[in-house]
Amino acid sequence: MHPETLAIHGAHGPDAATGAVAPAIHLSTTFERSADGSLPHGYLYARDANPNRVALERVLAVLEGGAAAAAFSSGQAATAAVFQALGPGDHVVLPASVYYGTKKLADQVFARWGLTTTSVDMRDAENVAAALRPETRLVWVETPSNPLLAVADIARIAALAHAGGARCAVDNTWATPVGQQPIALGADLVMHSTTKYLGGHGDVMGGALVARTDDELFQRVRTIQTAGGAIAAPFDCWLVVRGIKTLPHRVRAHSANAMAVARFLEVHPNVEAVHYPGLASHLGHAIAKRQMTAFGGMVSVQVRGGREASLRTKARVRLFTRATSLGGPESLIEHRASVEAPGSGTPDNLLRLSIGLEHPDDLITDLDQALRD
Ligand SMILES: Cc1ncc(COP(=O)(O)O)c(C=O)c1O
Repeated sequence: MHPETLAIHGAHGPDAATGAVAPAIHLSTTFERSADGSLPHGYLYARDANPNRVALERVLAVLEGGAAAAAFSSGQAATAAVFQALGPGDHVVLPASVYYGTKKLADQVFARWGLTTTSVDMRDAENVAAALRPETRLVWVETPSNPLLAVADIARIAALAHAGGARCAVDNTWATPVGQQPIALGADLVMHSTTKYLGGHGDVMGGALVARTDDELFQRVRTIQTAGGAIAAPFDCWLVVRGIKTLPHRVRAHSANAMAVARFLEVHPNVEAVHYPGLASHLGHAIAKRQMTAFGGMVSVQVRGGREASLRTKARVRLFTRATSLGGPESLIEHRASVEAPGSGTPDNLLRLSIGLEHPDDLITDLDQALRD
């Protein structure tokens, strides 16, 4: 079946007990045993499993083409579970351009746990081959990357990781399963901040991991989820399941809007550079065209005139909202270097745009007046 159909029917059917078409929210933390001690519905305690979480995990696995999924309380909790599933002394290859929170987790939490990391520019996959060591267990890919939209070749990197005896995990938050299918391209694990496009309305935090196979590594992830307890709450799962139903349509609209905005910015005299994988001028366009079916709703722009000019532009917007995060209906703008750690490498004149679902002409009009001299 197609993603539009899977997104709607992949989580649940009508409720067997009541016929309700929309799912209920199950707040119960505990579930009744039969007289013989068995669990007739398979549920024991809400940290282990809950009907809303099971429904979310089911649709996530189906949409990503994986065998199993685990839902967490945030994207960061999902990423942390992957690192926790590794052991002290294990080595991880990270992209040089990566969500700063992923790097922060690696440097400030998991370095103390004995995990070592090497950051490489994954726009050239061969840099991954050079970074592999006998103790490398994981190659972490983020494509397109936050905030530079660097594109990495998932199929090539997954093949290199496997040849080196490592797994390949892909943060698919920005592309979504509608725009990119990492497991079909060879990845072993897919990570999502469901806070973004999957929730889709800026009103729920969550994270998820989807596994190609329900193997020993994923069993460790599952134990970290249920024993560690950073689980997604029932209402949060319900919201993400609801968001996912419109995901394919939203991603297409976000992508069309982002393309229109990127084309406008590309020729604007006060713009130094635009980063959007849908543009033919983007360094990773050929790879993106091969591995993506939609280029997504995120655009980064470097304003001519440096930091001051970019801050001025950000201050002048009227329709865009000055706020962090992404993936909701409202277009957001953020001076990214201000929120990242010093030395993150993000250019000081870079504004990150989460292109929403407004009419693109209105977004362009707003950016045009904000970019004036
Ligand atoms: C690419 C990417 N990965 C992971 C995260 C972290 O997700 P969360 O904020 O849900 O913990 C974010 C958040 O912005 C992100 O953009």
